[in-house]
Amino acid sequence: MKAWVFRAYGPAEQVLRLEDVPTPEPGPGEVLVEVRAVTVNRARDLTIIAGRPNVPHLLPMVPGVDPAGRVAALGEGVEGFAVDDRVTVCSRSHCGQCRDCLDGREGDCREGTLIGIHRWGGYAEYCCVPVESCERLAPGPSFAEAAVVMRHFPTAFQLLDDKAGLRAGEWVLVMGAGGGLGSTGVQAAKLMGATVIAGAGAEDRVRLGIEMGADFGINYRTHDLVEEVMRLTDGRGVDVVFENISDPTTWPRAFASLAYAGRLVTAGAHGGGKVELDASRLYLRRHKVIGGAGASRRNVETTLKFAGEGKLKTVIEETLSLAALTAAFDRLGGGDVVGKLVIDPTLG
Ligand SMILES: NC(=O)c1ccc[n+]([C@@H]2O[C@H](COP(=O)([O-])OP(=O)(O)OC[C@H]3O[C@@H](n4cnc5c(N)ncnc54)[C@H](OP(=O)(O)O)[C@@H]3O)[C@@H](O)[C@H]2O)c1
Ligand SMILES: [Zn+2]
Repeated sequence: MKAWVFRAYGPAEQVLRLEDVPTPEPGPGEVLVEVRAVTVNRARDLTIIAGRPNVPHLLPMVPGVDPAGRVAALGEGVEGFAVDDRVTVCSRSHCGQCRDCLDGREGDCREGTLIGIHRWGGYAEYCCVPVESCERLAPGPSFAEAAVVMRHFPTAFQLLDDKAGLRAGEWVLVMGAGGGLGSTGVQAAKLMGATVIAGAGAEDRVRLGIEMGADFGINYRTHDLVEEVMRLTDGRGVDVVFENISDPTTWPRAFASLAYAGRLVTAGAHGGGKVELDASRLYLRRHKVIGGAGASRRNVETTLKFAGEGKLKTVIEETLSLAALTAAFDRLGGGDVVGKLVIDPTLG
């Protein structure tokens, strides 16, 4: 099969090659998937290829975290799937044995495996995965939609449901609402029955947040975020901030937008990561700042249920051939791509 392979860590342009490699044979409990869609995630992919952060990659490695496609072959003992079934693959599997898994907090498991880091991923014509990572795809969504949905929605539900304990009727402020995780956070919060404010740093991204279902929008670079939130909530503030940026200028304003006993959840720090926390406000107003990442099986099931009902919107910029992967990294680096770039290895 054709696959993008790296055999040493380094800059992708030096170490990542499109190669002909043997198609993997599914072992006991494994499923071979013919890849029909996998998303391009520049920051994540390039850090994995560069060997950062310090995760135990095996070399040679094929990156690509969230393939979707058709079952091509089944390993010994696999039940519940047949050749040609449409499936998506969960990037992360849980060990089922650590304290976090046994305590029912699978999303916090650090012992599981990640597709494209611990085993070959989806930038290839075929990808071999454990059957536990495979999920049957309802007839509605395309493979590209399924891959994009699986990229962020399970984490959005993990943050809002498992971590923030969001309840119907509460208010949520989503920061970076025009981004990948932000635009799914808007939708997930709406599906959970919240009133949602989309915060973003540009008018088109505020509009995107509204198109994703937010009730209100605030441009936090041209308006005072706290004033606007207080105006919309009659001075009360929001129950949950879905943050995920950690920008030193916007984080304190997002924190100050919380209602009494409000919760701020975050799974990202690409705005810098070092922010000022008003600890007096934290305890006097009984706030919680909660870190999260990953997803539980329940978050995945919730995602697939809503996807099957056609309730999840995705923004897909373009679907490209396997050979176009490195050009896709360059396009994302240029910063003017709005939705996701998706690779379909069956294209040209
Ligand atoms: N741990 C997990 O499981 C998990 C899963 C997915 C994503 N993440 C993390 O979540 C974060 C968001 O990911 P994403 O895929 O949604 O990214 P994205 O599509 O690039 O969106 C990020 C948004 O953040 C805003 N932003 C504000 N300040 C920024 C800055 N200094 N640099 C970059 N963006 C800034 C931008 O919107 P404005 O300009 O409108 O403010 C942008 O739309 C990342 O840190 C990512 O690593 C974590
Ligand atoms: Zn575990």
